Amino acid sequence: MFKSICAIAAGSLLLASTTLHAATDKGPIVIKFAHVVADNTPKGQGALLFKKLAEERLGDKVTVEVYPNSTLYGDANELDALAKNEVQLLAPSLAKFEKYTKQLQVFDLPFLFDDLDAVNRFQKRAKGRQLLRSMEAHNIVGLAYWHNGMKQLSATKALLVPGDAAGLKFRIQPSSVLEAQFNQLGATPLVLPFAEVFEALKSGKVQGAENPWSNIYSKQLHSLQPYITETNHGVLDYMLVSNPRFWYAIPHQIRMELEGIIDEVTFEVNRQAEAANQADRDRIAAANGTQVIALTDEQRDAWRQAMQPVWQQFEGVIGADIMKAAQTVNRIKRD
Ligand code: LMR
Repeated sequence: MFKSICAIAAGSLLLASTTLHAATDKGPIVIKFAHVVADNTPKGQGALLFKKLAEERLGDKVTVEVYPNSTLYGDANELDALAKNEVQLLAPSLAKFEKYTKQLQVFDLPFLFDDLDAVNRFQKRAKGRQLLRSMEAHNIVGLAYWHNGMKQLSATKALLVPGDAAGLKFRIQPSSVLEAQFNQLGATPLVLPFAEVFEALKSGKVQGAENPWSNIYSKQLHSLQPYITETNHGVLDYMLVSNPRFWYAIPHQIRMELEGIIDEVTFEVNRQAEAANQADRDRIAAANGTQVIALTDEQRDAWRQAMQPVWQQFEGVIGADIMKAAQTVNRIKRD
């Protein structure tokens, strides 16, 4: 018995080292990392830091190619490209995985998380960690959560009370929760890829949108939106994902190093995201032509109340256990 275990162990070691040599003999492993936002955003910076550290530490074993701004793949085709191994790393927003799992829709529920710290706590707890593996049946492995920030509502008119959004068309990410959120307000949601948001606002195809400050600023969306209400009503975060067939075929030692680098990059992205969004908020507030509207506690409560039915609508699909776990992470306890 002992002998056969040793034989198996020696066999796998031999296999691992053969694969290692095979991979490195063929030249560096190329990791294409595509995303849809600008370099000067939390995700853009994270992708570049991953490239820098991977190439510094793994020398000629790994090459990372970063494609920002939907230059390689965009919202419409990036996950298909991942399945075909045409791209190896993506970090789509959590709203963009609905086709593969309903559970991640918990992140889209309006006013569920009070702030990014609460989101962080949820992602670190067992239920949050579990969701990283919720798409394995679809050949998507979650490697980490990356923050962007809380979303703000912007429009061509001032939005102070929920009724102000009625009759306007808002661009949304492909998420049924976000669709329900705008329907609930009497507004019309329109799903569009991120790359088309600027043009859609410019042409008047939509009159409003919801984005974190960094996405608004880096794409200059505020130049087309005279009013931005600081609602902080939902989170826009990402899951760094790969295709498990690619990821687990990386020789063990290289993969361990890459996963260590991902941990470091995740720490940095998540440490800096909030400050980066605040800096962009201040730049937008200082720019001519856009009014940043702060809500009083009462006004924000009215928005929260107006969007409440969306929670009930999605509890069944998301799972009561996940929603309950998410509700325990806010500092302020509400019934
Ligand atoms: C969006 O489509 O609004 C975002 O998911 C874009 C991004 O990646 O931040």
